[in-house]
Amino acid sequence: MRVAMVGTGYVGLVSGACIADFGHDVVCIDKDAARIRALEFGEIPIYEPGLPDLVSANVRESRLSFTTELPEPVRAADVVFIAVGTPSRRGDGHADLSYVYEAAREIAAAIAGFTVVATKSTVPVGTGDEVERIIRAARPEADVVVVANPEFLREGAAIHDFKHPDRIVIGTEDERARTVMADIYRPLSLNQAPVFYTTRRTAELIKYAGNAFLATKITFINEIADLCEKVGADVQEVARGIGLDNRIGAKFLHAGPGFGGSCFPKDVRALIKTAQDKEAHLRILEAVVAVNDARKRAMARKVSAMFPGGLRDRTVAVLGLTFKPNTDDMREAPALSLITALQDMGARVRAFDPAGMKQAEALLNDVSYCENAYHCVDGADALVIATEWEQFRALDLERIRDLMACPVVVDLRNIYRPEEMHLKGFAYVCVGRPVTAQISTGDETLERFLQLAKVRAKAPTL
Ligand SMILES: NC(=O)c1ccc[n+]([C@@H]2O[C@H](COP(=O)([O-])OP(=O)(O)OC[C@H]3O[C@@H](n4cnc5c(N)ncnc54)[C@H](O)[C@@H]3O)[C@@H](O)[C@H]2O)c1
Repeated sequence: MRVAMVGTGYVGLVSGACIADFGHDVVCIDKDAARIRALEFGEIPIYEPGLPDLVSANVRESRLSFTTELPEPVRAADVVFIAVGTPSRRGDGHADLSYVYEAAREIAAAIAGFTVVATKSTVPVGTGDEVERIIRAARPEADVVVVANPEFLREGAAIHDFKHPDRIVIGTEDERARTVMADIYRPLSLNQAPVFYTTRRTAELIKYAGNAFLATKITFINEIADLCEKVGADVQEVARGIGLDNRIGAKFLHAGPGFGGSCFPKDVRALIKTAQDKEAHLRILEAVVAVNDARKRAMARKVSAMFPGGLRDRTVAVLGLTFKPNTDDMREAPALSLITALQDMGARVRAFDPAGMKQAEALLNDVSYCENAYHCVDGADALVIATEWEQFRALDLERIRDLMACPVVVDLRNIYRPEEMHLKGFAYVCVGRPVTAQISTGDETLERFLQLAKVRAKAPTL
């Protein structure tokens, strides 16, 4: 089948490359000429494991190409996917649908023959109706069916998710369109991926309800983590204890600094707005947004609480900037609010991230970016682990401790064990787990305490 992918960002590029890998002919289109030029030169504009090889293999086989010119590939296509961005509209939190509608107008002008227009972008209920209206208004004679086909891939595991989906949701009642979409995804039947056919509006809502549920699950465990800290319980064991219940499931029960990223925050906000417009208020989700927003800055207070005199003129090293590992995506990353709050408290911030520093530079002021984790902690008064990249899970802790001015670690991803950190001489706090030794300044100054901690840690065990 011939496929045109309108929008070549995270979703468009991964989907386009995977669909080409199934054996279809795919042209990825984007307005961003620099992005398309880079792709034509074999450069992948985003960090996504496995994507460079997948793209180059399919370009080599002439199944995948890139262009800024929409009309020709859309005219030739059996299926045109819309995969443009739907960011939060500035000011009110509704999804900004201007890119989707602009794409619809351009597609309308170009389509020829029977064409399925499938929306992969996450769009509020009723957007498919409007896309159809736009196309019909411009081309009343066009033989076109507008389908909702929301995408569930996760950045960092996007290729695996696209090729091994839990389900494929196809929202249309048109039999011809269902057959075409089934042909697109037929290669996945080997993996027995269930294809779930439903109406267009229901498909649109499934995507939002799914993301909102996952965001709620994260926020739930984060609040339980706060309670664990007050009552001396361990949130990781609580999560395991409840996650073993099949009705609950173990995923998305990792306590941390709050959810971020390109999807959850904007999608939850957009769903709340849709519901408010329909006078069907989603009060649980309103609470989820409020709790999550407050949490990101609260994480900075965890750091300042380690220093009786506060953070003024302290240097804080932040490891991890992206909203999760294996991506360079900085959109609504918790590290952004955390770092701004640390700076508001008077701290100097140094940071290292394996993939996100270029994007972070555009979003943060006065941060010193470092070459690696050890360079980052050199001379720092506190280390904050904000993203659980693999390479931060097995740091040389003795080296870290000796490089730091004060061996204070605030582990917002719970990747280290409290007992081990205390044995190594760190003052260590994490999220929702009992810490065996707190900094107790008593008569000692903090520096004195930490000096002693270092000496104790280095002393041979008798
Ligand atoms: N990123 C994710 O993990 C993810 C997962 C599932 C769903 N989604 C949804 O998929 C959609 C796309 O997300 P993304 O992260 O890929 O966005 P993105 O910002 O990375 O990419 C969007 C691309 O569309 C291009 N574009 C905009 N208007 C265009 C037009 N008229 N013609 C051609 N190109 C155009 C932009 O230049 C940009 O490169 C959003 O609705 C998002 O909510 C994203």
